[in-house]
Amino acid sequence: MISKVTLLFLFFSTLGIVTGIPKGFNYEESEVPNYSLINPIEGVSKKEDWPKRRQFLYELVESNMFGKAPEFDRKSLKVTIDTQDISILNGKGIMSQPVLTFANKEVRLLIFRPKLSTVPVPAFLGYNFNGNHTVHSEESIKITEEWVPRKKDNKASEGDRGTSSSRWDVSSIIESGYALITVYCGEVDPDFHDEFKNGIHANYPKPKPHEWGTISGWAWGLSRVMDYLEEEKFIDESRVSVIGHSRLGKTSLWAGASDPRFALVISNNSGCGGAALSKRKFGETVKRINTSFPHWFCNNFKQYNDKEENLPFDQHILMSLIAPRPLYVASASKDLWADPLGEFLSVKYADPVYRILTGEGLPSKKMPGTNKPIQGRIGYHLREGKHDITNYDWQNYIKFANKHLK
Ligand code: GCU
Repeated sequence: MISKVTLLFLFFSTLGIVTGIPKGFNYEESEVPNYSLINPIEGVSKKEDWPKRRQFLYELVESNMFGKAPEFDRKSLKVTIDTQDISILNGKGIMSQPVLTFANKEVRLLIFRPKLSTVPVPAFLGYNFNGNHTVHSEESIKITEEWVPRKKDNKASEGDRGTSSSRWDVSSIIESGYALITVYCGEVDPDFHDEFKNGIHANYPKPKPHEWGTISGWAWGLSRVMDYLEEEKFIDESRVSVIGHSRLGKTSLWAGASDPRFALVISNNSGCGGAALSKRKFGETVKRINTSFPHWFCNNFKQYNDKEENLPFDQHILMSLIAPRPLYVASASKDLWADPLGEFLSVKYADPVYRILTGEGLPSKKMPGTNKPIQGRIGYHLREGKHDITNYDWQNYIKFANKHLK
């Protein structure tokens, strides 16, 4: 007799809910097809050759994958301060919540900065998934009024305060002398498909096949935060690390590629469409991501559904576009959906670009074991555990930022 519990287990595991890994996709190294990758430094024998090659590669990735975002007139960015700064972390930090208005949207920042600093501080900037109030339990953090996922009527509520705090190591960040700036991604562009009638897209004509999807829109939103940081006085805009987990890691990579003002770029478990090579077809595939999330990439990307081999680039090119700025990619050992080896190979194949431009790249050609970070101009670690961003990840990002931005 099979028990009810076993039956339930079998039912949910076919859906991939027990393991967290969807069924029906390849998780076997032996099943990875043969594939060939373009050489990022083709025709580049010295530093001076890179800008032209980079421009060519940038346009390839922009028009086939993320989509071109519109120009922005900085004079139209409005800043409103409608909350008081408050002291947090037993007086070690200050919290503020300015509102930026651009493209007809009001976007609230949540900023934590060290209290005692007399000079502008370096910062980490990254989106959160469910609203600023989920990042920390402090009760004066404003609750978003925008659409939020997985909630009754898609409304955020008091009960969510601090529910994502394990993902934000605010005290280590502040104690290490950094500010943390976070924004709810849904205030820039809600994470569901409605033919681009919502979020910042609503302010512009419907995107053409080579124009911005939601990830490009989110990246563009981070550039607007950067516009603001260039004007305010507490944060050193020349030392901002852009960071993101998962879909928001895909976003931090594209933000880093599309806006050179980000001094350092961090991708945490970004997977397919982020750091992982698509041509390996390991875990999530191009077809699956374009079907489940039709709004994330530009329409041109859909022509590679089930046809990864036709892509004129792969994700190592996205990594290369960030050079010479420091780049950190992290994977998690149980996160097979995001293809940890594919994420490592991407940085490995971007290494020649870093070597030509800076003389330094990824310290090892071999994928390191779990919890054995490697940090050169490119950093990489494979954390033990599941798809998530943890204090362990943050400790390594802080160390990497200390090495490059202090
Ligand atoms: C899904 C999606 C991934 C994405 C992840 C996330 O699993 O398939 O591509 O990275 O959600 O953002 O959490």
